[in-house]
Amino acid sequence: MTDRPAMFGGRKTVRRAATTRARIGWPVVTDEERDAVADVLTRGPYTSNDAGRGAVSALEADWARYVGTEHCAAVANGTAALELSLAALDIERGAEVLVPALTFVGTAVPVVQRGLVPVFVDVDPVDYTIDPVAAEAAVTPRTRAIIAVHLHGLPCDMTALRALADRHGLYLLEDAAQAQGARHEGRRAGSMGDINATSLNVVKNLPTCGEGGLVTTDREDLYERVVLHRQFGEDLRAGAERDYLSRVMAGNEKLSAVQAAFTSCQLRRLDADSERRDRVVRGFLARLAELPGVTVPRVPEGRTHAWHILRLRFDPVAAGFPDVAPGVFRETLRQALRAEGVPVQPYQVVPLPGQPLFASYGYRVEDFPVSLGVIEETLTLQRWHLNPASGPVLDLCADAFEKVWTHLDDVVEVGRNTPYLPPWHKVAALKEAA
Ligand SMILES: Cc1ncc(COP(=O)(O)O)c(C=O)c1O
Repeated sequence: MTDRPAMFGGRKTVRRAATTRARIGWPVVTDEERDAVADVLTRGPYTSNDAGRGAVSALEADWARYVGTEHCAAVANGTAALELSLAALDIERGAEVLVPALTFVGTAVPVVQRGLVPVFVDVDPVDYTIDPVAAEAAVTPRTRAIIAVHLHGLPCDMTALRALADRHGLYLLEDAAQAQGARHEGRRAGSMGDINATSLNVVKNLPTCGEGGLVTTDREDLYERVVLHRQFGEDLRAGAERDYLSRVMAGNEKLSAVQAAFTSCQLRRLDADSERRDRVVRGFLARLAELPGVTVPRVPEGRTHAWHILRLRFDPVAAGFPDVAPGVFRETLRQALRAEGVPVQPYQVVPLPGQPLFASYGYRVEDFPVSLGVIEETLTLQRWHLNPASGPVLDLCADAFEKVWTHLDDVVEVGRNTPYLPPWHKVAALKEAA
């Protein structure tokens, strides 16, 4: 006999005392990071223009070696990394770039910042990354590039996307912000596009102590254009004397040395941390997969998953509640699991083209039924599992799921009697308030 669900006054399964910083804190900060940061403060140089001798150049060399590309340029954040990648490609204004409809807004904003038009493409219903068939259907004579977002840590089908790009003469860019360390057919995320961006934001699998980003490419001309664009269009290559001539319209999007020193330490542990995380997460997901109506992420043959975000799909029919709408089922589970102390949450409440910032572009969210379904029927677990020592906490989370499933009839009854609004009602509410 298990406890009553916390939603009905029973004992919470994942209590605060169990969720210590040592188990779920992220990033993990060790003496290695403290010493490296102190070393920058003591010895400098503080700037990214370190003539190959400072922490920024060291990180660039380390990341290029790790992913296996010729060049790497460190920049201010992941959004800047994408914007500078697009700037390097020098695509004419008004041209179209294919962007998945399910991703973070930071994938699409740089497209607009470069004067390009994001053309959204629905995602694959199983792996949640851009659907190569839908992408091909979206190609027009104005299309110039595809942004492959390795959503939640799973590399896109890069074989299909590369073939598509080659067939139509398009550039392929990777947005590897969520997938550091993941592989596709042996190649690292961040090495497979013509030019690739990643984020070092503090919540990422390869974090810094704040904000940062990295651009990689095998093409020297693209690398040089990124470097030109990251500091006012000036030619600041190692050894050159500063001439204060701004050759192109560009701002200031550099990475600081403290940030770089921190990330180099994290990079040294990335593979070991990823392996430990993989074991812990797979154990957790195996338990959830036993519950009727729960679909856990699938990792296709030839790819590895960085497990940046864990997305779980809930099917009321398979769980034995054919009369309950999927959104109602998911929302009721959210409430029951959160009451147990499991911080499940949505990731995106509307497909990206439905975000208020695109209100004047005339996109219709109904054109992205797969993304809508994913948003309505899934919940995510974020951050906790990044710490490789999170196993005991994830065990408690799995206990909480099992407890909720033991009492699913009563839990679902709550949903049947509660008014339901889909996640994207927040957008409509914002419009009404405006
Ligand atoms: C898929 C994706 N693209 C782009 C970004 C933007 O990165 P940043 O926050 O470093 O600007 C993020 C970060 O949250 C992301 O998850």
